[in-house]
Amino acid sequence: MRRRIIAGNWKMNMLKSEAKQFMVELIPLVKDAKCEIVLCTPYTDIHRVYKLSLGTNIGVGAQNVSWADKGAFTGEISADMLKEVGASYCIIGHSERRAYFGETDESVNKRLLQALKCGLKPIVCVGETLDEREGGLTEKTLARQLTEGLKGAEGDIIIAYEPVWAIGTGRTATPETANETIAFIRKIVTPLIGETSILYGGSMNAANAQSLLDMSEIDGGLIGGASLKSADFSIIVHCK
Ligand code: 13P
Repeated sequence: MRRRIIAGNWKMNMLKSEAKQFMVELIPLVKDAKCEIVLCTPYTDIHRVYKLSLGTNIGVGAQNVSWADKGAFTGEISADMLKEVGASYCIIGHSERRAYFGETDESVNKRLLQALKCGLKPIVCVGETLDEREGGLTEKTLARQLTEGLKGAEGDIIIAYEPVWAIGTGRTATPETANETIAFIRKIVTPLIGETSILYGGSMNAANAQSLLDMSEIDGGLIGGASLKSADFSIIVHCK
């Protein structure tokens, strides 16, 4: 089902006291929001943020999930562990995991199937690099990431389009480029998993969010840097 989702990705930020302070500020600012609000925090913040979110309209997620149930997988965190501490969403296949931690379309697919099996709502990230965009390979890259990544998957799967060249660079895709690319993504994913929300991510902030969210194909946002400040994040949450 297509719906407005505003998700924060804290990446590797927010110590205990910072996370608490953020929540104390954010909760009253977004209590009347009309959209689904999600915070994907570091593993170590999930339980704290979850406890503070009880009785509010804020959902909590992780930034990755193991593809295995349990066992000898040093450093990994299972879906059951995430659920036990209060996560109900998880990001899968973020470009930083693809670039720095060897994530592949195949491992994205394994993690996705595991998340769905265990009842976590996945946010699957796709996006092209600058070289791929400039080399005319955007559609080919996205088509591969989506068909391989979503293979055999069924259920409520949120997709995030995050062009790698726009992440953390201050260089946002124009609303028109983001809209056009998400329209292409929608054409591929709808026959695979049905109608779903597709978010834009990459230097989205309080100043440019409305112009992106005004576009017909953009259902919401996955926000990095601007999700670390409660005032900025709440402005994005309240966009029309
Ligand atoms: P920025 O909003 O900091 O560019 O990060 C986007 C992102 O990677 C969200 O997952």
